[in-house]
Amino acid sequence: MTGNKKLSAAAMAAVLSLTAVPATSTAIAADDGVLISADFEDGETVFTRRGENEVLTVTDELAHGGSYSLLVSERAKSWNGPQLALDGIINAGEEYMVTAYAKTPWYATVTLSQQYTDTDGTVHYANILQQTCEGSDWVGYENIKFSFPAGSTDMYIYFEASDASVDIYIDDVTVSEAPFIQPEDIPALKDVYAEYFDIGTALMCSNLGSKSFMALAEKHMNEGITVGNELKPDYMLDKEASLAMYEADGDDTNPQVTLASVRPMLEYARDNNVPLRGHTLVWHSQTPDWFFKEGYADDGDWVSPEKMTTRMENYIKNTMAILAEEFPTVEFYAWDVVNEAWKDDGTPRDAGSNNTTSGQSAWVSVYGDNSFIELAFQFARQYAPEGCKLYYNDYNEYMSGKMNAIYDMAMSLKEKGLIDGIGMQSHLDTSFPTPATYEKALEKYASTGLDIQVTELDVTTNDTSETGLETQAQYYSDIFDALVKYSDSISKVILWGVTDDQSWRASRLPLLFDENYKAKPAYYSIIDGIDYTTTEPVETITTTTTTITTTTTTMEGILKGDVDVNGSVNVSDAVLLNRYIAEDSAVTVSEQGLLNADMGGAVGVTAEDAAILLRMLAHLEAEG
Ligand code: XIL
Repeated sequence: MTGNKKLSAAAMAAVLSLTAVPATSTAIAADDGVLISADFEDGETVFTRRGENEVLTVTDELAHGGSYSLLVSERAKSWNGPQLALDGIINAGEEYMVTAYAKTPWYATVTLSQQYTDTDGTVHYANILQQTCEGSDWVGYENIKFSFPAGSTDMYIYFEASDASVDIYIDDVTVSEAPFIQPEDIPALKDVYAEYFDIGTALMCSNLGSKSFMALAEKHMNEGITVGNELKPDYMLDKEASLAMYEADGDDTNPQVTLASVRPMLEYARDNNVPLRGHTLVWHSQTPDWFFKEGYADDGDWVSPEKMTTRMENYIKNTMAILAEEFPTVEFYAWDVVNEAWKDDGTPRDAGSNNTTSGQSAWVSVYGDNSFIELAFQFARQYAPEGCKLYYNDYNEYMSGKMNAIYDMAMSLKEKGLIDGIGMQSHLDTSFPTPATYEKALEKYASTGLDIQVTELDVTTNDTSETGLETQAQYYSDIFDALVKYSDSISKVILWGVTDDQSWRASRLPLLFDENYKAKPAYYSIIDGIDYTTTEPVETITTTTTTITTTTTTMEGILKGDVDVNGSVNVSDAVLLNRYIAEDSAVTVSEQGLLNADMGGAVGVTAEDAAILLRMLAHLEAEG
């Protein structure tokens, strides 16, 4: 790693000079990659307090390891706690891991969080991991990955507790460089589906700092990147600048925008030549109430539809202008112009603030109906860059009432030349909808003649056991079968993330890769799905497999790679072999299968054989 320093005494002194409470030293980094190691055994601490009340004491009352820990007492606010200043020790834009242990005298939630200042000087706070301390045992935060967006300064990690009166003990804290995990040597999704549609993913700026995550995303899904959060109105609208303009000239119709949050993603897109999908201009959610209120006051009256139309026009115009001005080479291939405007029954959302009552729409409060949709498309057409395609995007897009409303709206916008496509979010679950219901929606939207993009695909499962993941794999496979069937109408399939742990629905494991960057059964199932279709690539693979049969047979009866002994070599064999090597008790491989599985690596059947088999299959895919 370049530019990083181990925590030398000099660096530590520099760090400490920035902090409020003088502290002396900590154990200096010893192991490779370990940047900070604080066990408090020397009676000293590099942590400082976040507030003005709390007292930090190294104590031998309690310890996770050794005899000492750090006690934080006399907290007065939930955010009071110990913080670790990281400037000069870590690099913004790279990934690290923290391990620490916390304990409280009684039941409390203790959250490991991070703070940084962005390039515009705005301070951000984000939770990394919340844990429940039961008041008895130490609770571990082990190998927790974190990073700060490129360009960040004043970087801290810290602990806080929602109970402002609880004492917090912490111990055995280490911060180290996260190891780089090379993507597995398996076929790239985007190559496998090259004939049908592009494969993309949503990225959040927080993903950019992880080289392992980005290597995986780039290998499989970089043919359409959606900005997952930071182009939403909550991030783009600049309240201070909007108010300043209002105070200066009495004009409250020209909302000002800022790129402070999204800048790291724009820099990534510019430096890597990646086209972006803008998400999203007009939405009831992740949009502040003041945007819809007289004088931009949170508690003001809703503005008139006329005033809101001017605000909407200026918001869209200012957004397109600032992007073109600051990042002229970044291509926006698409924008989600309006997001989630219809209820499942096909009527407009209820009037109100989504920030007060989830699901309500301030747009409907102002307009009384969904007439703002067409206006939004008019302004997007007028101000979006040349060639940028405009989409309406929604979830539960297979519910019949909503589906019909979207269809009618899309046809009317199409007649006026205002829309290019429909975004099917596709936040699915293994229990609903059925793949057949989903396919009906594909059929309906395809009949508009507009482009379809699957914009936010993920599939949750309540059963996170191995069996649950197999069911999820089957479901993914059925959905991809439907997508292939309608592929003439679908230009891109975009996953809403890459690894389960970074997903917005992390606990129900909705994606194709796990937190260790390993492909899940769902990945193998959709690769496998391609093998069994009757389209061109299958025939190619089958033919080539026949060639392999003749060229690699070394003993009578052995078909190299045919682990399930069914006479052909495909991804099912690779899945079986991987599971066999992982000692998965649910699978058995016959004696003949084991002979076939010995691909010529080390003696016996090993991970090396699995890798050789995957390379062979990937090679066949590429040739196909
Ligand atoms: C989600 C993001 O993934 C979360 O990080 C955020 O907290 C909430 O929004 N439909 C959409 C997306 O159109 O913008 C939402 O993204 C998921 C549902």
